Amino acid sequence: MSSQANADDDLMNVARQLFKPIPSVVPAVKDNPITHEKIELGKMLFFDPRLSASEIISCNSCHNLSTGGVDAGPTSVGHGWQQGPRRAPTVYNAVFNVAQFWDGRAADLKAQAKGPVQASVEMNATPDHVIKTLNSMTDYVFMFQKAFPNEASPVTFDNVAKSIEAFEATLITPAAPFDQYLEGDVNALDDQQKAGLKLFIEKGCSSCHNGINVGGQDYFPFGASERPSTALLPTADKGRFAVTKAPTDEYVFRAAPLRNVALRAPYFHSGQVWSLKQAVAVMAQTQLGAKLSDKEVDDIVAFLESLTGQLPKIEYPILPTRTDATPYPSLAK
Ligand code: HEC
Ligand code: HEC
Repeated sequence: MSSQANADDDLMNVARQLFKPIPSVVPAVKDNPITHEKIELGKMLFFDPRLSASEIISCNSCHNLSTGGVDAGPTSVGHGWQQGPRRAPTVYNAVFNVAQFWDGRAADLKAQAKGPVQASVEMNATPDHVIKTLNSMTDYVFMFQKAFPNEASPVTFDNVAKSIEAFEATLITPAAPFDQYLEGDVNALDDQQKAGLKLFIEKGCSSCHNGINVGGQDYFPFGASERPSTALLPTADKGRFAVTKAPTDEYVFRAAPLRNVALRAPYFHSGQVWSLKQAVAVMAQTQLGAKLSDKEVDDIVAFLESLTGQLPKIEYPILPTRTDATPYPSLAK
C-alpha cells in the first residue's frame, strides 16, 4: 500500500471511532411507538398555524423545512412581532441530540413540543386553546382516533406532542458525503474536505463535536479558552446554568450539532455570525485558543459542507377547514 493509502485508512479509522452515520430509517423514540398515522397527524400539526393564538405562526414559521429547519434569524420572532433571545436550532436530525434546546432543558422532542405552543414570545396559546381548536374540526378528531386507537378521548395535549415528535423523528438527513465516507467510500470526500476533517480532529473540534450529529451530544462552556464578545455571548443568557443552577454551568451550552450547518446561518445561540468561515474562526479562538490560517479555516469549512445530507421530500399538507366552533385568531399580547 502507498503511504497516501495508509494515511487515508488511518483518517477513516479515527473518524469512524468519533462519528456515526445518520441512519436511513426513522429511529425509535422513547415511550412513543412511531406509526404512519402519528407521523401524518404530527406533520399537519407542525404546519398548522391555528395552534398559535394569532393563527399565523406554526412550528414551520421558525423551523422552516425549506430553509434548513430554521428561520431567517438572527433570533426568532414570534407572537406580536416579539423577538426571543435565542436563535432557532434546526429540527432536522434533532431526534439524535442528547436533549433539546441550546441548554438541553427538555429531555426529548415530546417534552420540547409543549413549550413553543405556550411560550408568549412564540405561539402564545394555551393547551385549552389547542384542544378546542382541534376538536372543532372533525377531520382532526378522526386522525387522533386513528393515531391513538386505544384511547377513549385521544385529542389531548400529550398526544399533540407525541404526534409532533413522531413527525420530527422522520426529519433525518442521511447520505451526506461524510456519511458515505464513514460507510467506507474513501472518495466521498475530496482532498480539501479530508484535510478539513483531519484538522477538525487534530485541532480538537471533535473533542466537543462528535457522535452522530457531530455535536448535540454534550455540554461545554462557550468560551472554554477565551470569552467571546458580548454580542456573541450576551451576559443575560447564562445557558445551562438556568437548568442546573450549578456555578460551573454558567455560559455552558450544548455543543451545536453540525449536521447541515452550511444551510443555516446565522450561527451560535445569539445568531450574530453570518458566515460559516467566521464561525469556525470564532470557535478556534474561543474554544481552543488557536489562531487558524486562512487555508485551515477554508479546509474546515469544506469539511463542514460535507455534512449536508439529503433532506426529506415533504409534501405540503392540506389542513382541515375551520368550522363555526373554531376559536378566532387573537393578536392580543
Ligand atoms: C417563534 C419561533 C418558534 C416557534 C413558533 C417554534 N419554535 Fe421551536 N425553537 C425556537 C427557538 C428560538 C428555539 C431555541 C430555544 C432555546 O434554546 O431556548 C427552539 C427550539 C426547538 C427545538 C429544539 C431543537 C434542538 O436542537 O435543541 C425543537 C425540536 C423545536 N424548537 C420544535 C418546535 C416545534 C415542534 C414547534 C411547534 C409546536 C416549534 N418549535 C415552534 C423557535 C420557535
Ligand atoms: C470546548 C468545546 C468546543 C470546541 C473545542 C469546539 N466547539 Fe464548536 N461549539 C461548542 C459549543 C458549546 C457551541 C454552541 C455555542 C453557542 O452557545 O452558540 C458550538 C458551536 C459551534 C458552531 C455554530 C453552529 C451553529 O449551529 O450555530 C460551529 C460552526 C462550530 N461550533 C464549529 C466548531 C469548530 C470548527 C471547532 C474547531 C475549530 C469547534 N467548534 C470547537 C463547543 C465547542
